[in-house]
Amino acid sequence: MCGIVGILADYEVSPVILEALRRLEYRGYDSAGIATIHDGHLDRRRAVGKLRSLSDHLVHDPLPGRSGIGHTRWATHGKPSKINAHPHRAGPVAVVHNGIIENFAALRAELRARNYGPESETDTETIALLCQSFMDDGLDPQEAVARTLDRIEGAFALAFLFDGEDDLMIAARRGSPLAVAHAGGEAFVGSDAIALAPLTDRLIYLEEGDWAVLTRASCRIFDAMGTAVDRPETRIAETAGRVEKGGHRHWMAKEIHEQPAVLDICLNRYLGADAVTLPGDGIDFTDVRRVVMVACGTAYYACHVAKYWFEALARLPVEIDVASEFRYREPPLEEGTLAIFVSQSGETADTLAALRYCKAQARTLAVVNVETSSIAREADAAFPILAGAEIGVASTKAFTCQLAVLAAIALSAAAARRTLAPDATAEHVATLRKMPALLSQALQSEDRMEDIARTLSEARDILFLGRGAMFPMALEGALKLKEISYIHAEGYASGELKHGPIALVDESVPVIVFAPSDPLFGKTVSNMQEVMARGGRVVLVSDAKGLRSVDGAWAEIEVPAVPAIWAPLLYAVPAQLLAYYTAIAKGTDVDQPRNLAKSVTVE
Ligand code: G6P
Repeated sequence: MCGIVGILADYEVSPVILEALRRLEYRGYDSAGIATIHDGHLDRRRAVGKLRSLSDHLVHDPLPGRSGIGHTRWATHGKPSKINAHPHRAGPVAVVHNGIIENFAALRAELRARNYGPESETDTETIALLCQSFMDDGLDPQEAVARTLDRIEGAFALAFLFDGEDDLMIAARRGSPLAVAHAGGEAFVGSDAIALAPLTDRLIYLEEGDWAVLTRASCRIFDAMGTAVDRPETRIAETAGRVEKGGHRHWMAKEIHEQPAVLDICLNRYLGADAVTLPGDGIDFTDVRRVVMVACGTAYYACHVAKYWFEALARLPVEIDVASEFRYREPPLEEGTLAIFVSQSGETADTLAALRYCKAQARTLAVVNVETSSIAREADAAFPILAGAEIGVASTKAFTCQLAVLAAIALSAAAARRTLAPDATAEHVATLRKMPALLSQALQSEDRMEDIARTLSEARDILFLGRGAMFPMALEGALKLKEISYIHAEGYASGELKHGPIALVDESVPVIVFAPSDPLFGKTVSNMQEVMARGGRVVLVSDAKGLRSVDGAWAEIEVPAVPAIWAPLLYAVPAQLLAYYTAIAKGTDVDQPRNLAKSVTVE
């Protein structure tokens, strides 16, 4: 979602801010803008669409200045338009914002009554107007921001600049992530390490409620009560900002192909020779009686797969829910609950809120890709998935690494609870260690998937079916496809076919069936026959044995044979590649699909 960059330097900042915004493009956006102070005066440029529009604008109408803030906007209040794009300005105040101001309607009415009328439809402009009103009352910028922060409710990360103040930038964080940096006469503000990595190697992640007053010579941080605080500096990897496509046409293709390598790194971290080795102190499962798993989007489907593992291997009851539902349904958490929160970004607003709900009542564990994220920092323990930066909006390699970490946790629970004998655990560990090589093999069917996808791209609706742990894979397959190809797709448990979706089946609706040759295979094949009997075109995704035993599928995709329980790790590949090539055939924007954001930091 919205990306924020701010720089105080002794060079022209617009081009540098533009580059940093490019590194934030992956978050998803629909307009962008930059404001600077030049000769003491605030000025700004904004444009709808991709950053190219903003950079073209800057070529014709440059924006000089050595102090500046920039923004990529993902519309919440008001359509993508120049007038709604950030930075928003009111009198001497310019502000960029990520998040939502929940009391903006009331504030807007109050401000309007005092003749502070807005130009735009955004909640953000209210912040600028409110701050302006305090400055008109005689407060200085720092006091005005403090008063503004007291009045606004909701989730936000903010960066402010002020007319006449070439050496001042104020940043604030509540709910949405924000980092600041200060070194060698320069100061920076950024949404994440990727944005700032080429500019600095040390970041200070603001904590909940913090705000920072930055000049070229100083960085003062205050907590929500206004007390000056020290926050630790985190060294960021030199490579954090050096994310490259490595010859691939899209980030998504690169990330799909990276899976064998990152899965290997991840498994090496979690698996010993014949047992699991969890990070830190691991998890004491002796008094865990129940597991609750909460996440959003693809991460939720990873939880859904893992539910089968925890239940079958460790005999632990598991409840799963999407975070946006979990956080509001006031679920009782009995003693002995381990609550696991899975999130690639570690910043998803609903998942973070669900974690906060659980904290007082249960042990909490975060499974995250971004180790410095809010979810990682707020949980009792955090296990990294080690997937490396994921840029494509549709999650791919993070999903397989989430599965790998959850598999390790499930095996560790089974060993601790003695529901698996050591030799059985060792066998599972050996199978999981083969997964990276098997995943490479699965990727070899890429051309076949590209062919099939060409036909899929002509469909209006597509169904995905699976049984057991292939059911969540059907859901994930449908999600991937609709996210990037914009074709309507639904995932169903095979057994539910007759309870509704079969009504949709005719020759125009392709049905993709994930069915490894496991004990449930025969049952899924019966459902497949029911589809074919109604003229439905089935794409059967199975191993060689499964494919040999069935006739009549319209198309087949072979996946290496693997013990059924771990098959989801491999079936992720056809789910991802079918979606990818369908999107290519349709000519959509694979890496930044319309309306979607990489990290959903608002409710
Ligand atoms: C967005 C992304 C998805 C992702 C989901 C959860 O919807 O587009 O790819 O799965 O958020 O994100 P998280 O960072 O919490 O895993």
